[in-house]
Amino acid sequence: MKAGKIRVGVLTGGASAERDISLATGAQIAASLDSNRFEVVLLDPLAFMARNPEITAEQREQAQRLITGGGQLDPMHQLPRGLEKQIESASRALVPATRVMANVEPIDVVLIALHGTWGEDGRIQGLLDTIGVPYTGSGVLASALAMDKEVAKQVLAAAGLDVPRGVVVTGTTKSDLELATSVGLPAFVKPVASGSSVGASIVAQAADLPPAISLALKYDSRALVEEQITGGRELTVAVIGNDDLTALPVIEILTKRAFFDYSAKYDAGESEEVCPADIPPDAAKRAQDLAVRAHRALHCRGMSRLDLMWSKDRMVALEVNTIPGMTANSLLPKAARAAGIKFGDLLERFIDWALEDARRRAR
Ligand SMILES: Nc1ncnc2c1ncn2[C@@H]1O[C@H](COP(=O)(O)OP(=O)(O)OP(=O)(O)O)[C@@H](O)[C@H]1O
Ligand SMILES: [Mg+2]
Repeated sequence: MKAGKIRVGVLTGGASAERDISLATGAQIAASLDSNRFEVVLLDPLAFMARNPEITAEQREQAQRLITGGGQLDPMHQLPRGLEKQIESASRALVPATRVMANVEPIDVVLIALHGTWGEDGRIQGLLDTIGVPYTGSGVLASALAMDKEVAKQVLAAAGLDVPRGVVVTGTTKSDLELATSVGLPAFVKPVASGSSVGASIVAQAADLPPAISLALKYDSRALVEEQITGGRELTVAVIGNDDLTALPVIEILTKRAFFDYSAKYDAGESEEVCPADIPPDAAKRAQDLAVRAHRALHCRGMSRLDLMWSKDRMVALEVNTIPGMTANSLLPKAARAAGIKFGDLLERFIDWALEDARRRAR
């Protein structure tokens, strides 16, 4: 280890459906950190999971191979176009994260480049707290709260934000459907915890309600049935900072599709992101204030991104992401660039805030 450099473990890969995106993110992050200041190791937390019954047998086997150094892991899905090279280079460089626990691989700070289950929901944060390694972004509480859209909405509503009216169902029995129908049409149905719009759909007529609920319940044991916020514009606002928070320029999402679904998010040409959004300054200010309020209400640290629907005089909070997309072209890095913050500098700030928090907590 070279004296003086901060050793950053970029946590990438993992067991979520977003493993491949995470690997591409990890590769970009490793390439963007200042090599004069940082020494970077790509750490795969899948190594922790070799005996986890909640992942597939194939994933457990991959985890075992990672620990025993049994060669490169196979990609889980067809690789997203344009990112293949980055994903492959990250896969080759992966070190099992278990080495950090055994202290074979001493790490000063972890930069979490994971999304969704096991990465964004507080579980990996709890493990890192327990072993005493500082990490970027939100802690256990904010991560777990934001991931659970049912509870997050309650917290946001209590903080005075407007959230979609809605109910939670766990099946398609007569009483579930009665409850779901009480929301009215059109409705929007989605799993309580998911990402990338997986399992989400618009329900325009009553007959579509049961299949929409069944689809959402494939991804979670609870489904949210919400009023669909229609006729408005979709905005997203990122917040960065530790104690002093900065709301980045508002982004407007324009899509040709019925909503910002999986294809709109990942297929080229299906949507457009306008940053800064072409909206009146008072609307931008209102959206930014809401994003800061949401960040505080959920006790986020370092970064967050509030998704909003702006319809007539309502600005409705859909959800907060505690680990927003972090490839160089993702929404938050794009908004940071519009505010004059380069990708590498943004990452450096996240690391410095994590170290600052850790110093404050140390005894
Ligand atoms: N109540 C609603 N009314 C109208 N549209 C909605 C509603 N809820 C969600 N949407 C649409 O579905 C998309 C995905 O919803 P949401 O952001 O809650 O889920 P997600 O899958 O967690 O997204 P992400 O990829 O940002 O983590 C939104 O960007 C929006 O276009
Ligand atoms: Mg969203």
